[in-house]
Amino acid sequence: MTDTAQAATTTPPYYRRHIFFCLNERAEGQACCARHGAQQAFEHCKAQVRALGLAGPGQVRVNKAGCLDRCAGGPVAVVYPEGVWYTYVDASDIDEIVTSHLRDGVVVQRLLLAPDVGR
Ligand code: FES
Repeated sequence: MTDTAQAATTTPPYYRRHIFFCLNERAEGQACCARHGAQQAFEHCKAQVRALGLAGPGQVRVNKAGCLDRCAGGPVAVVYPEGVWYTYVDASDIDEIVTSHLRDGVVVQRLLLAPDVGR
């Protein structure tokens, strides 16, 4: 292992948890997250993370993403470093992801995206 690779595995991550929301919009008629409230969910998540004092280095980062290629299950979001995929319906789902997973590290089982969902 190189020194750089060794440092990467022993250094604490810049963000403790990182959530990406697909905000992609496709041409009319095609499944996409943008048509299922993804933008509002992203903004709500960002606001909640900030309101709970979770935002910033060493804590939580909320980011936009393009298509994550799991459109059939949209809207979708993924949390790293665990690589846990979620689908959601409303703001209360986002609240639960924020407090349970992003803050407390407990996966929200009821919102998990089925493993076989693709584009
Ligand atoms: S449009 Fe959201 S995963 Fe493809």
